[in-house]
Amino acid sequence: MLLADFIRQSVHRLSALYPSPEARGMVSVLCGEKLGVKSYTHIIEPSRAIPDGVLPELLSCMERLMQAEPLQYVLGYAEFCGRRFKVDGRVLIPRPETEQLVGLAEERMRASGLKAGVLDLCTGSGCIAWSLRLDFPGTEVTAVDISGDALELACSQFPAPGPEFVQADIRGPVPELVRSRGPYGLIVSNPPYVLESERAAMRSNVLDHEPGLALFVPDDDPLVFYRACAAWAADLLAPDGCVLFEINEAFGPQTASMMRSCGFTTVEVLPDLYGKPRFVRACREPDSRFRK
Ligand SMILES: C[S@@+](CC[C@H](N)C(=O)[O-])C[C@H]1O[C@@H](n2cnc3c(N)ncnc32)[C@H](O)[C@@H]1O
Repeated sequence: MLLADFIRQSVHRLSALYPSPEARGMVSVLCGEKLGVKSYTHIIEPSRAIPDGVLPELLSCMERLMQAEPLQYVLGYAEFCGRRFKVDGRVLIPRPETEQLVGLAEERMRASGLKAGVLDLCTGSGCIAWSLRLDFPGTEVTAVDISGDALELACSQFPAPGPEFVQADIRGPVPELVRSRGPYGLIVSNPPYVLESERAAMRSNVLDHEPGLALFVPDDDPLVFYRACAAWAADLLAPDGCVLFEINEAFGPQTASMMRSCGFTTVEVLPDLYGKPRFVRACREPDSRFRK
């Protein structure tokens, strides 16, 4: 089969599910990955054929895409903070906003002189924990998730030494292993924050394929995971430590005031690249009696 024909047919089929530019982009990435071709190869080499040995795999990828499976699951990886993370249906596909969260975490780690370790709550694929561990090899990183399936994948992302992964429900008590590695200079979390009522507006590639456990919170308790993180922070955060959250854009003021009520004196809501309120940074000033 000619590459140009495969691309034309595939873009046409996928355009039933996605806007045409997105469909074209997906087919281009798929061909780049499986055939090593550029986005323009089929134009400058119109007689270029797809090798017979690769065609079945490409066609099977197309069938998966036609079931609205996300491209990253079909390829088996997602790009995040300059690295490739393995992803499959056990974990949420890391989002660009979360790369910004890592940027804020790293800013804080540099400013604090990297004295204490980092705790990543609701780690999923481990993208935050591994990024921080690999960018700051001297820092201990601990990462928690309730899902054993997610942790299995998270552990396998890169060769050891990596973060310490711990299975736990953050709505419950702090496990001894997590406590013993504290106190932490930074607690970071991108927990589930999509309201059940927001399901209706979501596309089927997310709804039918990404784990619901990673996405949704009840409409009547949207801050459930932030309260849980704050309770762990009360126990585990160093006196001059800081908490960083990714949040639902609808709940900036509520999340900030909940953190203030938990004793955090400096609380800011920060925007994402689209200007939407997306992050909360909460710090406890060190007790002035102990300042030099
Ligand atoms: C939004 S995903 C975030 C994954 C990853 N940190 C990221 O930014 O891509 C939320 C994660 O929270 C985990 N989770 C859900 N409920 C939890 C709980 N009660 N305790 C700990 N983790 C939980 C899910 O398994 C999922 O991996």
